[in-house]
Amino acid sequence: MSDAALDVVEFLLTTSVYSDDRTLDENDLPPSYRQVYWTGGVDSDDDGDGRSSPAGISRPLSVTTTTAREATGVAQPWETVSDLMFTERDEFSGSLTLADRGMAERWFAERADDERLLENPTLAKHYADHEEFEFDATHEEARERNRPIQADRVWIDGLLDEYFDEEEDEEMLDLVEVRAPEEVDVTLDELVLTADQENELDKISKAIEHRDYLSQIGLREIGKLLFVGPPGTGKTSTAQALAREMDLPFVEVKLSMITSQYLGETAKNVDKTFEVAKRLSPCILFIDEFDFVAKTRRSDEHAALKRAVNTLLKSIDNISLIEDDVLLIGATNHPDQLDDAAWRRFDEIINFPKPDYDMRADILRVITRQMDIEEFDPQLVAEVTEGLTGSDLRMVLREAVLEALTEDRTTLTQDDLLHAVEEFEERDTLKNMDMMGGDHDALVAGGDLGKASDGGEPESDHDHSHDHDHTHDH
Ligand SMILES: Nc1ncnc2c1ncn2[C@@H]1O[C@H](COP(=O)(O)OP(=O)(O)OP(=O)(O)O)[C@@H](O)[C@H]1O
Ligand SMILES: [Mg+2]
Repeated sequence: MSDAALDVVEFLLTTSVYSDDRTLDENDLPPSYRQVYWTGGVDSDDDGDGRSSPAGISRPLSVTTTTAREATGVAQPWETVSDLMFTERDEFSGSLTLADRGMAERWFAERADDERLLENPTLAKHYADHEEFEFDATHEEARERNRPIQADRVWIDGLLDEYFDEEEDEEMLDLVEVRAPEEVDVTLDELVLTADQENELDKISKAIEHRDYLSQIGLREIGKLLFVGPPGTGKTSTAQALAREMDLPFVEVKLSMITSQYLGETAKNVDKTFEVAKRLSPCILFIDEFDFVAKTRRSDEHAALKRAVNTLLKSIDNISLIEDDVLLIGATNHPDQLDDAAWRRFDEIINFPKPDYDMRADILRVITRQMDIEEFDPQLVAEVTEGLTGSDLRMVLREAVLEALTEDRTTLTQDDLLHAVEEFEERDTLKNMDMMGGDHDALVAGGDLGKASDGGEPESDHDHSHDHDHTHDH
């Protein structure tokens, strides 16, 4: 009997059991099942806990060819099970049912193992409730393993839909991006972290797990992290991977977007962002480019902008991991620009340094896992890439892969890598070169670049030729 038939029978059995057993809820259904039955929207019972419950999935769950296909990924669900004694299709409605559930239960029990039951809390409970079956999987364990509905895209969308009308939605979309953990594609084991980083992440994972206990003993000053480090050192990736690992929605605020056209609305939108985070909780609220806050406070920026930033700081004060289930992570490339007021708001600072020799070698190993490389010597590549970040190393690899492809090769060599490192360094030199001054060779080859910068500069540039008077700096 094929796996496809097992998949379809599992689906039929699950929907049948779920329809009957009212003690089961959405979190007892595997994510791919509940997505099929999700009706969207949320009920707006405001019981003051800041959380809404999904209107979502109503009983009974009826199975059609379409729902079975979507839930199981089996292209021809009926055909795969039609010759089993206990399955039935209603020609009229097209619905698939179990003509004899007891038989289906036994058929499934003979073919499924504990590992499979642990992926399906509904069946784990059902089989545990019936002693004639000898499975070890428990309902609790299966539920623990099952991703919570709060992490599903459909749940998040339903919540956002209810909260914003369409126009508002567009404004907010510029400022906030919400990602379901299922949509995050980086995992913690793909990231090479320092011992210190690992230690801090462990601590925070434990704190999230035991937040009831922390609340009970009155420990509330926890759950606001600041990631500091140069570009490309993995700050954003680590925050996202943490969201995925812990099944938490990832709410990202783009502070630079604050300066966009809706200045007057900005303070309101900042408020709303935090409101969204509280609604989606438990979640991670990621605020990138945090140095923006400090810059804005110092300079004589637009009053509306300052108001927005003050709102932001106040909102940060008012949000808590323990009370609101929101883990706040700020990130910045310029820790030196943060003033005391900004620093004070974070209880842990996590350093993201450029990777050292050993880390570079490890990063190279991780990012080449799926690649074929002859005579690969990551240590050696690490030696010649001092100063490069994880992001740089990725770029080097990409370059090497593309180069090889131009020669129709999908197997790389160590030489390809070394060559790509050289290329990268050339590129880096170009980046750091002053394009206006001097007579670098790179600027005159072909003469094109030189010409363009000759007559091409617009009038408005003349301000810059005077000594810079930074009206904004004081
Ligand atoms: N330590 C690392 N291990 C593995 N991959 C890394 C590491 N650091 C960075 N990378 C990779 O480099 C890329 C860029 O990383 P990321 O965007 O997280 O950097 P960042 O610190 O947020 O940069 P920025 O300050 O510019 O926002 C990602 O693809 C990430 O996987
Ligand atoms: Mg980033």
